[in-house]
Amino acid sequence: MPLVTTEKMFRQAYDGGFAVGAFNVNNMELMQGIVDACKEENAPLILQISKGARAYANMNYLKGLINTALSETNLPIAMHLDHGDTFDLCKQCVDDGFTSVMIDKSHESFENNVAVCKQVVEYSHKNGVVVETEIGQLGGIEEDVIGVSADDVMKHVTDPAEAEEFVKQTGCDSLAVACGTSHGAYKFKTEPKLAFDVIEEIGKRLPGFPLVMHGSSSVPKEFIDLINKYGGNMPNTMGVPEEAIAKAVKMAVCKVNIDTDLRLALTAKIRQVFSESPAEFDPRKYLGPGREAIKEMVKHKLHVLGCAGKADLCR
Ligand code: G3H
Ligand code: 13P
Ligand code: ZN
Repeated sequence: MPLVTTEKMFRQAYDGGFAVGAFNVNNMELMQGIVDACKEENAPLILQISKGARAYANMNYLKGLINTALSETNLPIAMHLDHGDTFDLCKQCVDDGFTSVMIDKSHESFENNVAVCKQVVEYSHKNGVVVETEIGQLGGIEEDVIGVSADDVMKHVTDPAEAEEFVKQTGCDSLAVACGTSHGAYKFKTEPKLAFDVIEEIGKRLPGFPLVMHGSSSVPKEFIDLINKYGGNMPNTMGVPEEAIAKAVKMAVCKVNIDTDLRLALTAKIRQVFSESPAEFDPRKYLGPGREAIKEMVKHKLHVLGCAGKADLCR
């Protein structure tokens, strides 16, 4: 089937108390690990591409891989721009055939955020593309994504009244909210408490409206331990507990963003192969196990999100 927007996925997710996994893709092994997991679990899928991924992989290669995923699986798949930072980038992605774009002006003033989002919504809707926006600020700093210090995330959670006003003024289709999560591997040093009261209050003010949770990797200890065992150095870190994700998806959260856990799975396996077989130099011998580790991690995640078995509902 052709690419879909997230519209039907989110309606089903909202009503069914689950969320769709949005996984970041940068290369073929990531794509195959994720897509194979969704195929085995019959899950709807959002494949998301960041500005950095576009620069790294060349959009035409990524599009070729996504077209192959569509024909190999017949799953409902949305192609989404993650953290678009300008109108021009969002427009380029709409023109490139994306079915969903995110415009992230969350670090700017409310007025600037509204103004740019409105422009993106207008262009995207004219072309049948849905738009995710963001208000409030997450923690963590990454290549192309601005964030606050991970220690300060609770000071920057989304204001529910602002969220309501923001959605009304922009006409966006989904809203990423800050509720205590951070991007990257170094989210928390101790068990975190997410601001479920914020999610609940936004849910009350915007009934039926899909929310998005970024920075939602769980940073599994098994991967950190493997990385550290085989020469890495990733001390003292924790992610978003799976129980917290399972709770959020029963509320208004319909999309959960995962990138770091994919990177950790791949890195852990590659380090293990390099360390255990130092004479190995065939990329298939380390990327293959890495791809398998990604697949197993994603399959597990689809059950945490509750979207395993939900593909048919979202077609
Ligand atoms: O939240 C951002 C994603 O993890 C994408 O990261 O900009 O390094 O591709 P990236
Ligand atoms: P993680 O870094 O927790 O995987 O979050 C990814 C994300 O939010 C992509 O937009
Ligand atoms: Zn994000």
